[in-house]
Amino acid sequence: MDMYDIHNHLIYKFDDGPRSLDEVVEMLKIARDQGITRVFATSHFQELIPVELEEDYFQKLTELQDRLEQENLPVQVFSGAEIFFHHYINETVKRSRVGTLAGLGKYVLLEFPLFLMPSGVPDALFKLKMDGFIPIIAHPERYSSVMENPEKVLEYLKYGALLQVNAGSLVGDFGRRVQRVAMWMMENRLVHFLGSDAHNPTTRTFRMADAVEHLKRHVDEDYVRDVVEHFPAKILKNEDIEKVNIPELEDQPGFLSRLKNKLFSLGR
Ligand SMILES: [Fe+2]
Repeated sequence: MDMYDIHNHLIYKFDDGPRSLDEVVEMLKIARDQGITRVFATSHFQELIPVELEEDYFQKLTELQDRLEQENLPVQVFSGAEIFFHHYINETVKRSRVGTLAGLGKYVLLEFPLFLMPSGVPDALFKLKMDGFIPIIAHPERYSSVMENPEKVLEYLKYGALLQVNAGSLVGDFGRRVQRVAMWMMENRLVHFLGSDAHNPTTRTFRMADAVEHLKRHVDEDYVRDVVEHFPAKILKNEDIEKVNIPELEDQPGFLSRLKNKLFSLGR
């Protein structure tokens, strides 16, 4: 089985991730031991992506790929960015190669402020879709607005976004509330990808194997495979992900309260 990790910080001295190439290799050995075979190195990027910054990114990515070959480490690394949300994101993404996963011009990993969701998010998601991009929301379970109103993600899905949950969230690394929301999303098949959001080999590392193990006890095994293998594989094939579970809000007035009841009855 192939296991993909579509969200992590593997480019050294670039963001708050690893500080040296040796540290990156150490991280990828952990990834390999967890069964991860393909990763997207999604460093943090802000509104502007200057040419020099992008060059620095790709130079370090090539350096990493060469080193992996020397070390015989069987993990493939593809380019990517975790882009901080802003209102002219379409322009940023159109102008940069790093802005879409593997530089294929389709999937965009978006991050939001943890404690304050900006206004106009559904509009912005829709605009990305209209321009032929597919927005992926990074770790929705970690945003305070989603923790308070988990059904918010249904709106994002409706506007064309896909959801990436952090492996660590599923096993409780970010607290019980985050874990409950993340598991609720998985149980309702609202999630499309797992990501490690690994930053270093010690305090924020890969938790994919543990998350998969945990998930297999609670959700259908085929679906677990979808989120770590089948759906992410489509990113590299530049294909759409058709199996998206979007509950029809208007048609099922009782649906939300049922979801909510289920969520809040867990562990309370
Ligand atoms: Fe991240």
